[in-house]
Amino acid sequence: MLLGTFGYGREFDQFIDLNKLGGIITKGTSLKPRPGNKPPRICETPSGMLNSIGLQNPGVEYFAENDLPWLRKFDTAIIVNACGSSIDEYVELCKILNTLDIDGVELNLSCPNVKAGCLAFGTTYEGVKEVTSAVRKVLDKPLIVKLTPNVTDITSTARAVEDAGADAVSLINTLLGMSINIDTRRPKLANNTGGLSGPAVKPVAVRMVYQVAKAVNIPVLGMGGIVTGDDAIEFMIAGANAVSIGCGNFISPDVSIKAVEGIENYMKKHKIDDINEIVGTIQLN
Ligand SMILES: Cc1cc2nc3c(=O)[nH]c(=O)nc-3n(C[C@H](O)[C@H](O)[C@H](O)COP(=O)(O)O)c2cc1C
Repeated sequence: MLLGTFGYGREFDQFIDLNKLGGIITKGTSLKPRPGNKPPRICETPSGMLNSIGLQNPGVEYFAENDLPWLRKFDTAIIVNACGSSIDEYVELCKILNTLDIDGVELNLSCPNVKAGCLAFGTTYEGVKEVTSAVRKVLDKPLIVKLTPNVTDITSTARAVEDAGADAVSLINTLLGMSINIDTRRPKLANNTGGLSGPAVKPVAVRMVYQVAKAVNIPVLGMGGIVTGDDAIEFMIAGANAVSIGCGNFISPDVSIKAVEGIENYMKKHKIDDINEIVGTIQLN
């Protein structure tokens, strides 16, 4: 089981055994440090939350010197979520990531909360293909590309990922949303809009995972509203080869461990020896 929205793992170490996780996908990391957007940057919504963090992070050099050696103490895969504002920046960042002791890179082409980059590349076949191809040339490590749901046809951008030679595709990032304080008539987030995540987005994410899994031959990493083992199973039946939990970690820090137990219980109940047996086994009506 893989996770997102987990910072660099340190805050969770006191609550759960990080060795029990299949992997950790870091907070979005850029070439240079980023301060992120002005607060307030998060607000609660029915069955979910909006965020406009704006990819605050200490930069790849700081990560390599301070967080990576600490993360490497654990027996779990470390995948760096990489973000940039231009193709050159993605390429420079991935050249550095290629030299680090990490298990792979997840390219974030889908953050709705920054003005330049990310979403600018992420919404068209050409944009996704261009940046993924450029990164592929400099990155020998496994490359996952994370897609935005803020498009009309997600199978088009998923095909771009495959055509550009990436090893896997992940989805979904957050859905662009807005929440307004009716007394002040101002948006609750300083950035006005933000990305919606949590259980509220799960049906959208399951639908998109189903569509993408049918459209490409590379593995699909599914996420969006997963909180329990049953949620994870639903994504896998839809076609996800692996799953990750973002927002759910804020509900309870041990959500991932409990979800793993939930998956094991489902396997026992349905007499399944290998979880891969259920991937893509949806029976349409
Ligand atoms: C507070 C917050 C910060 C996030 N930061 C990132 C990020 O840095 N990079 C990224 O690719 N996705 C980021 N996401 C998106 C999540 O990784 C995930 O794709 C999305 O929230 C849907 O999954 P979930 O409902 O399990 O959270 C963030 C989400 C939240 C709520």
